[in-house]
Amino acid sequence: MAERKRILSGMRSTGRLHLGNLHGALENFVQLQHQYECFFFVADWHALTTDYATPQAIRANTWDMVLDWLAVGLDPEHCTIFIQSEVKEHAELFLLLSMITPLPWLERNPTYKEQQTQIDGKDLATYGFLGYPVLQAADIIIYRANGVPVGKDQLPHVELTREIARRFNFMYQTELFPIPDALLTEVPVLPGLDGRKMSKSYGNCIYITEAEDVIADKISKMMTDPARIKRDIPGNPEVSPVFAYHKLYSSPPEVAEIAEGCRTAKIGCVECKKRLTKNVIARLAPYRQKRLELEADMKKVRGIIEEGNERARRECIATMELVRQAIGIVDRK
Ligand code: TRP
Repeated sequence: MAERKRILSGMRSTGRLHLGNLHGALENFVQLQHQYECFFFVADWHALTTDYATPQAIRANTWDMVLDWLAVGLDPEHCTIFIQSEVKEHAELFLLLSMITPLPWLERNPTYKEQQTQIDGKDLATYGFLGYPVLQAADIIIYRANGVPVGKDQLPHVELTREIARRFNFMYQTELFPIPDALLTEVPVLPGLDGRKMSKSYGNCIYITEAEDVIADKISKMMTDPARIKRDIPGNPEVSPVFAYHKLYSSPPEVAEIAEGCRTAKIGCVECKKRLTKNVIARLAPYRQKRLELEADMKKVRGIIEEGNERARRECIATMELVRQAIGIVDRK
């Protein structure tokens, strides 16, 4: 049998995950672990590139993220889950790659330029933040991964990774690193409670493992068709974020009934939201249940991650030996 392709992806440790993360990335990870050899990791060093002045939350966020991953079904029997900063070899490869990465490649990286202007209150004119994609390249190629499942926003980083891998191979006359492909996850953008993109920084999220009464309360305050200011005014479901959720969480006949009910003012927004609440809670209940079980057994969770770290380290140690040989920075074997 041909070897299974190797997939790797990471997420910055930002804490609990929301429904946008669930449908945008996690459900896909859960599928992929059954088809490929998968590595998933919490990118806590990447979190530090922007939060170095307020690092207090990063470690807790890391465990929060691990718990959510396990709760939604990432399974250590089927994939390797680890924490970036626990596998120091990433840092060594980052350092070596930084030697060969031309500065202009980094300076023209669109995310570098955007974040500088978009995130206020943080000084991102740092060497570490400029080097963000070099660290990301190290994360990926140290596993000699073939595919990287990411959202569109990460495409420039995967492209840079490909360029860095090619440059390494060319410069040191080796074929050590496969050129990884981005595996774009095509997902319907799930709006946040206010209709904008769901994002932690907008404060418009529903979290995957949130308590039921909180979910109910959030949905009850969700934006609907703004034109439907009274119960008896017909609405347009297509402009309502509530309806976007129905499409994901309710059965096709119920979705059809809701759409029709909205257009004819047969169903009011309050009822529409109550029905959505019921379906969302029912779908998320197993995740919440699983998370509570895991929280009650952190020893087991720590064990899972320690094992993942160890498996990851083993891969990295092997790659780094070949990297040092390729460069010639060690005595020839
Ligand atoms: N930059 C990615 C993000 O913000 C996180 C990340 C770090 C990553 N290293 C990676 C993603 C390697 C894929 C592969 O989401």
